[in-house]
Amino acid sequence: MIQRADSNTEDKPVKGKPSGSMHKAGADATPNDWRKQYDIPGYADYYAQKRDESFLKKLSNRFELNMVRHALRRLSTRFPVQTSLDLPTGTGRFLPVISEFSGDIIAMDASPAMVSRLQLNDSSAAPNTTPPKIARCVGSVFEIPLPDDHVDIVLCSRLIHHLPDAAARLSLFSELARVARYGMVVTFFDAGSYCGMRRNARAKRKQKLNTRHAISRKELIANAKSNGLTFIGANALLRFHTEITAASFTKDR
Ligand SMILES: C[S@@+](CC[C@H](N)C(=O)[O-])C[C@H]1O[C@@H](n2cnc3c(N)ncnc32)[C@H](O)[C@@H]1O
Repeated sequence: MIQRADSNTEDKPVKGKPSGSMHKAGADATPNDWRKQYDIPGYADYYAQKRDESFLKKLSNRFELNMVRHALRRLSTRFPVQTSLDLPTGTGRFLPVISEFSGDIIAMDASPAMVSRLQLNDSSAAPNTTPPKIARCVGSVFEIPLPDDHVDIVLCSRLIHHLPDAAARLSLFSELARVARYGMVVTFFDAGSYCGMRRNARAKRKQKLNTRHAISRKELIANAKSNGLTFIGANALLRFHTEITAASFTKDR
């Protein structure tokens, strides 16, 4: 199931969002249609490059990488981290950051197109560090094809805010907690931030199809607790303003 990654693909860059992706979906689109867009031809290329399109996007990406770095550091100061799982890895945006803490990484995603477009030689990797061993793998967060306690830590970034129902969010936590030996970092859209409040107010007015959902810290922490995880801290990309936030949890042993 798990294959060692060797090199980057040599696909040609794609400019702009490919047709059929979520913002062009029709009125009959459902909240779960966002998932299918990742396998649309050209979408993985678009995703891999979209944060390089402007100065602001580059800056925001840098802030987000730092946010996750901070949350991973919170875990790595508590126990030795050797192995990790990046799920969903997308096109591997966070691999350079994870490799600062873990030498052995499994990069997993439900979309084969995204996994095959993994950026493994990202120039933002910390200089003078031993190159990480990265295994790429296709798999769903709801049925992770790994045994219990298989990795030391898990990073789950930019997925939970796409899940519209609380039951799905709970089962995501249950699977992540099963495969993590020590703990995890989960990014989520914080309903208590300015942007989160605005999003939820708009969703109430049903102005448009909502493919992203801001949730409360209370729900997140309760979900984690019911799966044997203890919340140890959270940091937002821009405190009180932006909704994207990284929360760290340790596994009760
Ligand atoms: C917004 S991207 C985030 C990727 C990466 N974490 C990042 O921040 O760049 C969401 C990813 O979730 C993946 N995905 C959707 N449903 C999934 C599932 N059930 N299990 C695993 N991955 C899933 C998609 O294929 C896509 O790559």
